[in-house]
Amino acid sequence: MRAVTMCLALGALAVALAAPQQQDQPAKTYTEEDAKQYLNKLNAELLQHSNMAAIAEWAYASNITDETLQNKLKVAADTARFQKEAWKETVKYPWTTYKDPNVRRQFKKLSVLGAAALPEDKYEKLDKIVSDMQNVYSTAKICDFKNREKCDLNLEPGETTSFSSSSFRPLCYSPLLLL
Ligand SMILES: *[C@@H]1O[C@H](CO)[C@@H](O)[C@H](O)[C@H]1NC(C)=O
Repeated sequence: MRAVTMCLALGALAVALAAPQQQDQPAKTYTEEDAKQYLNKLNAELLQHSNMAAIAEWAYASNITDETLQNKLKVAADTARFQKEAWKETVKYPWTTYKDPNVRRQFKKLSVLGAAALPEDKYEKLDKIVSDMQNVYSTAKICDFKNREKCDLNLEPGETTSFSSSSFRPLCYSPLLLL
């Protein structure tokens, strides 16, 4: 009986020791074929992130509240975090040596991180400042050139429309020229 228990214990130990080795992956390779698969996966994930970011962006731009702003900032920060993680993997591929110009083009673009390269706190600060500027612009009211009592005009789209019309004088008066 003792011997059986001992055997079982040893057997379990052997399985436990062997298990991690079985899970070992072969060393990762970065061939052009691997790169194509990587791009397919990454593009699909980036698409999802961009889509969520665009929806949150639109929800804020069309309905400026603190809640829509917080949501937009959160989604943008998540997207930036994802981009930064993906970038670390992207730059491991020796993409300049690949044959397919379409693959090289995508890697070239993905290897430039832009604002997402900032540390998280700095990225969030930047995004918040840009959003505040959008808020100021979108909610600003100005007075009509001819009727100074009428002071409920929006810069968007009202002033933009008057820019594209031929009326010169209101343009001179436009506060946008002072920006
Ligand atoms: C605007 O956003 C708030 C959340 O801050 C939401 O409750 C409200 O329904 C939204 N309004 C419109 C018109 O979408």
